[in-house]
Amino acid sequence: MSDSQPSQDREPILQVRNLVKHFPLTQGIVFRKQVGAVKAVDGISFDLYPGETLGIVGESGCGKSTVAKLLMNLEQATSGEVFFKGEDITKLSGRALKAVRRNIQMVFQDPYTSLNPRMTVGDIIGEPFDIHPEVAPKGDRRKRVRDLLDVVGLNPEYINRYPHQFSGGQRQRIGIARGLALNPEIIICDEPVSALDVSVQAQVINLMAKLQDEFGLSYIFIAHDLSIVRHISDRVGVMYLGRMAEIGTDEAIYEHPTHPYTQALLSAVPVPDPEAREHRERIILTGDVPSPANPPSGCRFRTRCWKAQARCAEETPLLAIPQVFAGQDTPAAHESACHFAAETAAVV
Ligand SMILES: Nc1ncnc2c1ncn2[C@@H]1O[C@H](COP(=O)(O)OP(=O)(O)OP(=O)(O)O)[C@@H](O)[C@H]1O
Ligand SMILES: [Mg+2]
Repeated sequence: MSDSQPSQDREPILQVRNLVKHFPLTQGIVFRKQVGAVKAVDGISFDLYPGETLGIVGESGCGKSTVAKLLMNLEQATSGEVFFKGEDITKLSGRALKAVRRNIQMVFQDPYTSLNPRMTVGDIIGEPFDIHPEVAPKGDRRKRVRDLLDVVGLNPEYINRYPHQFSGGQRQRIGIARGLALNPEIIICDEPVSALDVSVQAQVINLMAKLQDEFGLSYIFIAHDLSIVRHISDRVGVMYLGRMAEIGTDEAIYEHPTHPYTQALLSAVPVPDPEAREHRERIILTGDVPSPANPPSGCRFRTRCWKAQARCAEETPLLAIPQVFAGQDTPAAHESACHFAAETAAVV
């Protein structure tokens, strides 16, 4: 996490507007008939500011990885826009897309499967230079790769080793070095530590925080639960069934959550202080996450929400600033897609 709070008056580096990705569901082998769609991402908007970390959390299948792929233009959006420094990258192709992609890199979840086992570490980290030779001319590559190994805390002498010769944490460092190779401005980390032991998770997160300061990177940090992103995020967005339920600063989300789903997720986060633990209400969510092919009408969370009323089935709550906060001078600080967010904000 960068020391300075993200300055909301600066221009965002990334602006995501009404992003939608529907995967068609088809039936039949010869005549493939579309019988519906998996609404993996269904109208998501958020900003990312230079130098900040935006955590994105939510249960399995809520669309986090699909958002990540859309931001890199690895999946084509069904509709919506992603502006990188004001330019809509969902409309780009060819050379223009390639130029933008250089600036947005990804670190993947599983360091065991995301690194090609037949390539040396040097070739893995240097591979992006094949696509962007202008970043490191042929003669400079080995030196650049050695520098990158050093930057992520690995011995540059390991350059000729293969992935299986490294531990999980070391492999993720290799993935990070590769992500850094092209000097990107944004790194999208899709559950970068979920496959690692808890003790190693902290080391990798600390490394990422250090690299962020050193290179002025902006991060989107995806995770399943709120405890992992807490220490690295400046702001956090909570996703549910293809939509953003709540987004806000660290303090807003962890201290004053106004969406019942965020409150439920938070209540599952372990609290080290026994006294605080005693006073905390544990919210157990009942029922399964509905299918993204057939989401509930209105508020998608209503089928599992203890506050749900008739209105929640009829009216879709928009991601809006809770009234209580609206009078304060923090427009982008906290938005919650719940009809009762303002009432909740008055008491939390
Ligand atoms: N290529 C695809 N074709 C069809 N459906 C897909 C495709 N990719 C993802 N989906 C579906 O879209 C929904 C969102 O998937 P996604 O992988 O984005 O979720 P996620 O939040 O990253 O989950 P996890 O936490 O398990 O990684 C899921 O229902 C998934 O089955
Ligand atoms: Mg995922």
